[in-house]
Amino acid sequence: MLQRLIKELRPVVSLEVGLAYGISALYICEALREVGAKRHIVIDPNQQNHWHNIGLHNIQAAGYADLAEHISDGSELALPQLLRDRVEIEFAFIDGYHIYDQTLVEFYYIDRLLKPGGIVVFDDADWPSVRKVCRYVTTNRAYSVHRCLEHEGQARCLPPKCTFLGQVAKHLPLLDRFLKPEWANPDSGLGLLPKSRCIAFKKTGPDDRHWEFHREF
Ligand SMILES: C[S@@+](CC[C@H](N)C(=O)[O-])C[C@H]1O[C@@H](n2cnc3c(N)ncnc32)[C@H](O)[C@@H]1O
Repeated sequence: MLQRLIKELRPVVSLEVGLAYGISALYICEALREVGAKRHIVIDPNQQNHWHNIGLHNIQAAGYADLAEHISDGSELALPQLLRDRVEIEFAFIDGYHIYDQTLVEFYYIDRLLKPGGIVVFDDADWPSVRKVCRYVTTNRAYSVHRCLEHEGQARCLPPKCTFLGQVAKHLPLLDRFLKPEWANPDSGLGLLPKSRCIAFKKTGPDDRHWEFHREF
């Protein structure tokens, strides 16, 4: 899925959170090389102490040392620094610590680095913490669901549909207040494949929300 997205999008600069063994980095770099990309930034604070540099070794052995650049810092420190350095990216893959707040912070900064038309992919999007961030992205931000991984290698885009409960809640705003957002507006209604473990979003435009804007997610 990552390779197909990269071949369609043809990014010049891309970014990844979470290196570990470097498996996703290898797939990403292979596709980036094919489209002539210039730079792949990989953020992971634990590559040396926890992973004994196996991810970096794999990148080097595969011949991508000139393309991939490792930042040995937590995403919460590395991403704001990239923003300060005015780095712009077209593609990002989030596969880091996965708790809700960490993933949301990663999305927040990646969005600031991502050009309109760019793509951000969440791995483990079937985990409740990551899924909640995906729901926030679709309901509150200028992003469209671009692709959901279905099963091995197959990905599709679901047309958003409204459930019966969702329809009722729409016409009775008071009822909406008492329903969990997941009931009033289920994942399928947002175009998110319920069990998909990898979801790609396309940035459709700049963030022009009013400062009071909020939608339950
Ligand atoms: C699921 S693994 C990544 C797997 C990798 N993408 C692969 O395909 O081999 C999650 C990674 O997130 C890293 N991680 C943990 N906290 C982090 C943080 N604050 N910022 C960036 N990465 C973090 C871990 O060290 C770990 O390598």
